[in-house]
Amino acid sequence: MTNQYYDEMLNTYIPWGSSTCSKHAGLTPEEPAVIVSGKGCRVKDADGKEYIDFKNGLGPISLGYNYEPVNAAIREQLDNGIIFSYPSPLEAEVAKAITEIIPCAEQARFLKTGGEACAACIKGARFITGHDHVIQCGYNGWLNSLASDAMVLPGRKGTSGKTGIPMEFASLYHATPWNNIEKLEELGKQYGDNLAAVIIAADYNRMDDARTFYPYLREFTNRYGAALIFDEIVTGFRIALGGVQEHYGVTPDMAVFAKAVANGMPLSVYCGTAKWMKAFAPGGAVVSSTYGGETLSLAAAKKVIEIYRTEDVIGHLWRMGARMWGGVARIAKEYDLPINMGMTDRPVGFYSPRAGERERYVKMERAILKAGVTLYHGGYVNYSHQEADIDEALERIEGAVKNL
Ligand SMILES: Cc1ncc(COP(=O)(O)O)c(C=O)c1O
Repeated sequence: MTNQYYDEMLNTYIPWGSSTCSKHAGLTPEEPAVIVSGKGCRVKDADGKEYIDFKNGLGPISLGYNYEPVNAAIREQLDNGIIFSYPSPLEAEVAKAITEIIPCAEQARFLKTGGEACAACIKGARFITGHDHVIQCGYNGWLNSLASDAMVLPGRKGTSGKTGIPMEFASLYHATPWNNIEKLEELGKQYGDNLAAVIIAADYNRMDDARTFYPYLREFTNRYGAALIFDEIVTGFRIALGGVQEHYGVTPDMAVFAKAVANGMPLSVYCGTAKWMKAFAPGGAVVSSTYGGETLSLAAAKKVIEIYRTEDVIGHLWRMGARMWGGVARIAKEYDLPINMGMTDRPVGFYSPRAGERERYVKMERAILKAGVTLYHGGYVNYSHQEADIDEALERIEGAVKNL
């Protein structure tokens, strides 16, 4: 069966053409409608075409597709069982490992998606503080896109009006842009007395603002007795093993890790200091899910953490990231590509379309896909990308955009 066959089926039987909005291919036939397999840093579509991939499943792949040591750990656990009616030893072991590598983590619990783990932290913060209002920065998952101007998808703002969210809910959530202290001071004046939490995902293009912004947020939340929650779903296991809280040296009260924690297996972690994690003990704010301690994902996470602790994964991601995003920036400059490139020295590198050049931007995206590179408005490098893969991807990109 071909890409076209699946493209038609997806668009017929699934609203938005995929269960994950950002996975829907809007640029077929250049863009692969489906991916049938992946190995390392390369994936193949239904037509058998190979791509050097920088989307990494939208983030969960950090070591590489089909990564044998993680596969072996999953297979071994599969022989023992997927899920039980009591916790498996893995639940205890991975929680302990999390407390050893994440600065804020004295305790940890597990869920399946990043969005629900963010929701758990928000509920916990409300329980501990007795307060209602929440300030959000960045995208924190679909079920937390509650402020009228919140991010409803990464990089896409919601609209006021019809959002599927009752006004009563929405009135408790307030979106703030990254590093906008004036806006936060204003929100603090309005809602500080009843503020439960500030939950923040970094702006990946201006991440180093965190050097001053995170200490400010720490003081701001302390001032109002609110929880500081870091959404480390993109930054965790990439910027540093302990996330941005380790990299920038500011410890939040709670944090969420998901995407890279189990190299693609569905696992999210919410963790924090004992004071705040008490919210999830008996008599607290109930957060519970049948699948929280599912063992295949925990086996994968245990192996992933072990690999990160014994091999220089983070160093490799930074080196390959700098090579890739630095290369893209050089090509963008040389050929006047219609993009504003963000930071180019790290594992994540994102760009946005230059204003007024949408048509040329789409033409560029189609050309790069046709040349066999899947970017994610930039994207992620993984541990399987080697220098030769990056150089080949850059060659393909340069060849594709030369004659835009
Ligand atoms: C920063 C951030 N927070 C939360 C989420 C939501 O995670 P999930 O899609 O696993 O619910 C995402 C997903 O893209 C994310 O990038």
